[in-house]
Amino acid sequence: MNQRQSLEPSDTAAVREMLAGTGYAEKAIEYYIRKVFMGDMPDADQVSEMVGSCGDTMKVFLKVENSIIKDIKYQVLGCPGAVSSAMAAAKLVRGKDLKYARTINDNDIFSELEDIPAQKHHCIQLAVKTLHKAIDEYGNGK
Ligand code: FES
Repeated sequence: MNQRQSLEPSDTAAVREMLAGTGYAEKAIEYYIRKVFMGDMPDADQVSEMVGSCGDTMKVFLKVENSIIKDIKYQVLGCPGAVSSAMAAAKLVRGKDLKYARTINDNDIFSELEDIPAQKHHCIQLAVKTLHKAIDEYGNGK
């Protein structure tokens, strides 16, 4: 059972309240709660993984056709900032070409999230670095 399934409505309200209280914008909270791009992808064309400076781990799955990211999923073993950042990164690059996706940076994710606590900005970096690693490895045929 994933976290989304295990949350009762009242729990979700409590999580929203906690995150809002620690500095997450409503949009960042939505990404965390909904987890639209979370999961694995058995037929992925590229799977890449990265461990952040905090020890948290992200894995990204890409489905690519004619240099377009047709689908993207993340698996995240990490904090709400990591989950929100990964979901925002996926939203920004799904349906876009690889070249564009490689230019996505920390500021783009921060703008998409609207706000997360300052001490969580390295979580954004992890989402971006994992995505860039996957694009580079896909380009290198790894
Ligand atoms: Fe590790 Fe957020 S604390 S990614």
